[in-house]
Amino acid sequence: MCGIIGYIGEQQALPFLLDGLRRLEYRGYDSSGVAVKNGGITVHKKTGKVADLEAKLPASVEGTCGIAHTRWATHGGVTDENAHPHCSADGKIALVHNGIIENARNLRNRLENEGVKLRSETDSEVLVHLIHREISNGAKPLTAVRRTLKRARGTWGICVVFEDHEKIICARNGSPLVIGVGSGENWIASDTLPLQTLTQQVVRLDDGDLAEVSADGIKTSRFDGRTTDSEVTSLDGEWGEAELGDFPHFMLKEIHEQPEALRQCLTGRLDIKNGNARLGGIGLTAKQLQKIPHVRLLGCGTALNASQVGRIVIEELARVPTLAHVSSEFRHNNPVIETNALHFAVSQSGETADTLAAVKEIQLKGGEVRGVINVVGSTIARQCGRGCYIHSGPEQSVASTKAFSNMVAALSLFGIQIGRARTLSREKGKKLVKSLQKIPKLVGDYLEAPGPIEEVVDLVKDAKSVLFLGRGISAPVAREGALKLMEIAYIPCLAYPAGEMKHGPIALLEEGSPVVVIAPNDSLKDKTVSSIQECRARGAKIILIHEEGDPIAEEADISIPVPATDPMFTPMLTVLPLQLIAYQTALALGCDVDRPRNLAKSVTVE
Ligand code: M6R
Repeated sequence: MCGIIGYIGEQQALPFLLDGLRRLEYRGYDSSGVAVKNGGITVHKKTGKVADLEAKLPASVEGTCGIAHTRWATHGGVTDENAHPHCSADGKIALVHNGIIENARNLRNRLENEGVKLRSETDSEVLVHLIHREISNGAKPLTAVRRTLKRARGTWGICVVFEDHEKIICARNGSPLVIGVGSGENWIASDTLPLQTLTQQVVRLDDGDLAEVSADGIKTSRFDGRTTDSEVTSLDGEWGEAELGDFPHFMLKEIHEQPEALRQCLTGRLDIKNGNARLGGIGLTAKQLQKIPHVRLLGCGTALNASQVGRIVIEELARVPTLAHVSSEFRHNNPVIETNALHFAVSQSGETADTLAAVKEIQLKGGEVRGVINVVGSTIARQCGRGCYIHSGPEQSVASTKAFSNMVAALSLFGIQIGRARTLSREKGKKLVKSLQKIPKLVGDYLEAPGPIEEVVDLVKDAKSVLFLGRGISAPVAREGALKLMEIAYIPCLAYPAGEMKHGPIALLEEGSPVVVIAPNDSLKDKTVSSIQECRARGAKIILIHEEGDPIAEEADISIPVPATDPMFTPMLTVLPLQLIAYQTALALGCDVDRPRNLAKSVTVE
């Protein structure tokens, strides 16, 4: 949450800062600000979008070193004062911060008792005053930052500029920072997205690292003062196309990228001859896979829904007990960890704090965790060390779409791989591999003719609430549909396994209530028909997502057919109309599709 960009070099800093902020806006968009060194330090901050900040800037802000921030509020409301950068009282030091300073209240009280006037309600501001005090006592910038952070508790990714020093000091603990390496210039960013067009060489900071960045050098060191080697790695091939192109919104673009994203995920991983799949990065032999007592998947939001689909696929294909857990709950419930069990952390961003904390909890108890991650080199990917990348390409819309499909595809590949090592026959494996191979094309076919989405929008856009139902593998798909519609169109949505509907949610139904039912052509379909009839008997309107040509369409008020596939892989098709329903409804209601209120793309606070 929140984005940071910094520049130091010979060129003007502001254009880099503004372009970086625009690219990072998906991480937080309550307010933004810049600080540029130009003799003194000029700071401009503004609530609202980056465009609002730009509109407020004077015609020119000269300077070749600066830092900038786009905020997702945690401590303190959305005001200009609470926007970053924060400055020392004399205006000679400016700081931007991602993360949370947990002992900020205590530090604030002490500073106030000493006569320091704090200008914001944020936890971050204390840091700049403490750094200022160290500098006033004669400390060099790096030492001043290090000493300050020793007094802080919590998480940070910070960048600090000083009027009297030609360098940016940055530090990381729990909130990522990457340094883009140039020639006679360097950039700092909270993720690699704004660096893509600037450089392919990066230094990734680890937790506990500090860096002193000047135009012609990067010196990294640890919290305890030890210097470290700044290992330069390449971004080569890390990301696909990150621009909006001809699409009006990133969400729509990303929905339409699913065929290609799925191809990227499956390419090279299907062993058609042996009816098997290869996820080499998992680092487990067939022998080791045979001995695994159980599999546990951890994720949040869409990643959790994808994990729940994966849970069913893995358990079905490998006959190994498999569970999916809410990361934030798992970590706090003192889980029993079997050291020879297999754990997966599933995350698009690879930065989700709850999932990262769950990974650390498992590792602390001697367990091993593999990542199922989109962003290469992200914190969770590196914390796990092993795993598989889902290769969705950049996902910038807050509402996750193509990452869901690719997480499901990656977990399906793993299901086949572990299945073949255990009970799955070659013949059945071959059939599955062939079906999986066809999924990208089928997804493309559906997206070309998506059915009567507008009719659904008319039915749901003014509804008090929308109920989503599905059974078996379609129950998590129902949850995913509800999450999408709720987060971008702000319509209260409830998702239930269809069989549970009669145990409570049925009380909500009245004449005209929209109910979205996901009923692919699997062994549970007939039971779902009973649930549909129970809803219809109470006056509900049924929006039915089903297999093309299936007579179940007659049960629908609005029928949306999707192409047929193996029952195990239906989620990659049935989720598509749900994504489009959410997108079109949000548009019809005038919502900001890519930047829904109160949310941010990567949730790096617990
Ligand atoms: O980056 P992650 O996959 O770990 O993110 C997890 C959730 O925060 C994320 O899926 C969130 O629920 C999305 N906004 C859903 O569209």
